[in-house]
Amino acid sequence: MKRVFSGVQPSGELHIGNYLGAIRQFVQLQDQADCFFCVVNLHAVTVPQDPAVLRQKTLEVATLYLAVGIDPLKATVFVQSEVPAHAELAWMLQCLTYYGELSRMTQFKDKSIGKQNFSVGLFTYPTLMAADILLYQTDIVPVGQDQKQHLELARDLAQRFNQRYGPILRVPEPMIGEVGAKIMALDDPGKKMSKSADNINNRINLMDDAKTVQKKIARAVTDSGNEVRYDPEYKPGVSNLMSIYSTFSGESVATIASRYTGQGYGAFKGDLAELINRELGVIQKRYQELKASGTVEEILSQGATKARQVAEETLQQVKEKMGFIV
Ligand code: AMP
Ligand code: TRP
Repeated sequence: MKRVFSGVQPSGELHIGNYLGAIRQFVQLQDQADCFFCVVNLHAVTVPQDPAVLRQKTLEVATLYLAVGIDPLKATVFVQSEVPAHAELAWMLQCLTYYGELSRMTQFKDKSIGKQNFSVGLFTYPTLMAADILLYQTDIVPVGQDQKQHLELARDLAQRFNQRYGPILRVPEPMIGEVGAKIMALDDPGKKMSKSADNINNRINLMDDAKTVQKKIARAVTDSGNEVRYDPEYKPGVSNLMSIYSTFSGESVATIASRYTGQGYGAFKGDLAELINRELGVIQKRYQELKASGTVEEILSQGATKARQVAEETLQQVKEKMGFIV
């Protein structure tokens, strides 16, 4: 059975970009592979976090994992800081990572540009991500397009380690969807939808109510035309909405285009909001039930126990190979 690992940061609110780009794939994979889904709180503290908010968001993301349909009987759901091996392996891999490699990471450049004080953790973040993945001898990593470069580093580090010390670490493959892997911002289709953008109309959060979704879709930037046509270069706003429609409905963009021929953007946007609300409604209902049940912490604790066993095994092998006394 293949091993799958992925993670989501407990910072900000999860949005439909996270959902369509990553989390929805998790649910499908749990039936075919041995899956580990992690709430990566060590990654979140690469930028300042309020401790109380971080704690709350950590539980929120875990609850959302379960609300979208991840079944703790099929997949292991856990919190990164509960498994010390992540930080330990990250250090060892940092000593194999070149300064130049991390300097070229586009996410680091985006997040640090123009800032005076950013942490060293923000810089070494991709190495921690590599540790997450390699600890579990992962075959497949389902992520959005923006993580591709980080995945390349994880692969390079696995190969470098194996060459230097012997073949211990499995070299992972990214799994990036064809549609949905890069959902763009509603207020600016030139940028990706993001948790950290200031304008709340940038994104649709998984916990947004139906009215808010309607409003945000109605306000989404399109163009001065009226044709529902997929053309990312000349019609980036409409094309992004069509990608969202297509991933939610499972229909091709061609089918969607022909349905709205001659109808303009109003009807299309109205139906899109409805489509999103139908799916989010189900998730939100399950979320509230899970929250009320008080079972999430116990699920996380069991998940961490299982994750620790797998991670420790790899860590011991790495330590031995590197010449640490074990
Ligand atoms: P993050 O919000 O950075 O923790 O991302 C969690 C997951 O969502 C990662 O796999 C990202 O690649 C994915 N993701 C984040 N933003 C988007 C987006 N705008 N479109 C598609 N996937 C995304
Ligand atoms: N860096 C990822 C993001 O911001 C989150 C992440 C951390 C992750 N560790 C991971 C994703 C391991 C996949 C596998 O989206």
